[in-house]
This record gives sequence, structure tokens and C-alpha cells, in this order.
Amino acid sequence: MSRTDYGDVERGDVVVPGRPVKVHRYSGGARVNHWLTAICLVLLALSGLAMFHPSLFFLSALFGGGQWTRTIHPWIGVVLFFSFFGLFVRFWSANLWRRDDSRWIAQANDVVAGREERLPEVGKYNAGQKLVFWSMSILIIILIASGLVIWNEYFGSFTSIQLQRWALLVHAIAAVVAICVWVVHVYAAIWVKGTIGAMTRGTVTGGWAWRHHRKWLRELVSMQKGKRTETTTHSS
Ligand code: HEM
Repeated sequence: MSRTDYGDVERGDVVVPGRPVKVHRYSGGARVNHWLTAICLVLLALSGLAMFHPSLFFLSALFGGGQWTRTIHPWIGVVLFFSFFGLFVRFWSANLWRRDDSRWIAQANDVVAGREERLPEVGKYNAGQKLVFWSMSILIIILIASGLVIWNEYFGSFTSIQLQRWALLVHAIAAVVAICVWVVHVYAAIWVKGTIGAMTRGTVTGGWAWRHHRKWLRELVSMQKGKRTETTTHSS
């Protein structure tokens, strides 16, 4: 079997025997990339909300006042765009939709009740994570495109007031949806015990992988077995 037969296994994923068995899920680069994106999104949400409604203007104090908030917000948006692009390049293939994902979603009641044994075996990401991934990808494209239209300092002279008004509306709606998607993402990460460690230490336990991402673990183990057999055959 070639690497492409293991659709859910990404570069750097490795099972390490021991007590407990450890499974490498994210490289250092992927984790730095992820947390940079997360920090940018939090800063964007805070600075964006400060400009969204007068009752939230007090948040601008975090950025040195109203003018600084207005100046810094689009630049953080640019950093988030490129940072998320990095995540996209790393994770898009493991987030491709498969037939089992639709079955997983259809059994949402079993997901919420934690009856994972009734669900189809999950690859590196479950259908919920995939939905978060693709909705974030679309929302970030909408946010950067509409954000550029309303970035008056650099692009004001290229766009009409009418277009800027529409872009502002689209930007605000996309931002509210993105914040909701982000809340779901963080909630899920905390709700499924042992998940946060994946993004902090880079590893999960074999038990976690068996319980929540069994298809991924099976693929990983059989890929490693395949490699070991290849090495023994070559060396004998
Ligand atoms: C402070 C907030 C955040 C926390 C606590 C958090 C936590 C996590 C954790 C624990 C994982 C690993 C999940 C797993 O391997 O099963 C993860 C994965 C991921 N996170 Fe976050 N995250 C945060 C913010 C963000 C933001 C703002 C974005 C993007 C805009 C993001 C995008 C991703 C992506 C793309 C993955 C890979 C999983 C996938 O592709 O579905 N995260 N996050």
C-alpha cells in the first residue's frame, strides 16, 4: 500500500508504543501555526466588536484607543489570513468529506449522547470538525475580501460608497458567524477530554485515538506495520 491509500494519515503522525501508547498528532510547526491563528482570531474579535457597537467600544482600551483599534484590526486580519492559509494547506486533505461523514452527522443524537460505538469509525477528523474547517475557510475568504473593500486608507479610492456599505454589512455578518463557529470549535475541544493536549503537546493517548478517531489509528498502525515489514524484507 502506498501513502495515498491512508487518506487520513498526515506527515508526522506516528504511534509510539509504551504505557500509555502515545500518538503524535500535530508537529511543532502545525501547533505554532494553529495558535498564531487562534491569537489573531481572538484579537480580531475583540477589536472588531469594539467597532461593532458603541456599547462595546470600551474594548478599544485593550488596543490603545479607538484610532489604534481601527488601524491595527485590518493588519491582524492580514496575518490571520496567511496564518489560516498555512493551516489550510496542512489540513485540507484530511478534511475531505467522505460518505461516512454524512452518516455521522445523521446520527447527531448518538454524538451528543456520547454513544460513539454506534457511529461509523472516524478518521483523523470527524464530520463536525470538517464542517468547522470548511466553514472557517469560506468565512475567512469572505472576511478578507470584504475587509479589503472597507480598508479606506489603502483601497478607499478604488471602491464606491455603495459597495463599501454592502461590504461592511457582509463583513459584520461573516464575523458574527465566524465567532459562533469558533465557540463551537473551542467547546468541542474542551468537551472531548484529552483533545486540548493534541494542540499543546502535539500528542494524544492511544486510548483517545481508539475511542474518537479509530479509523485514523487503524490506518496509522497498518502503515507503520507495512513500513516495518518493508525494512525487514530489504535488510534480510
Ligand atoms: C483559543 C481558541 C482555540 C482552541 C482552544 C483550539 C483548540 C484546538 C484543538 C484542541 C485542536 C485539535 C483537535 C483535534 O486534533 O482533534 C484544534 C484543531 C484545529 N483548530 Fe483550533 N483552537 C482554537 C482556535 C482556532 C481558530 C481561531 C482556528 C481557525 C480560525 C482554528 C482552527 C483549527 C484547525 C483548522 C484545526 C485542525 C482540525 C481540523 O482541520 O478540523 N482553531 N484546535
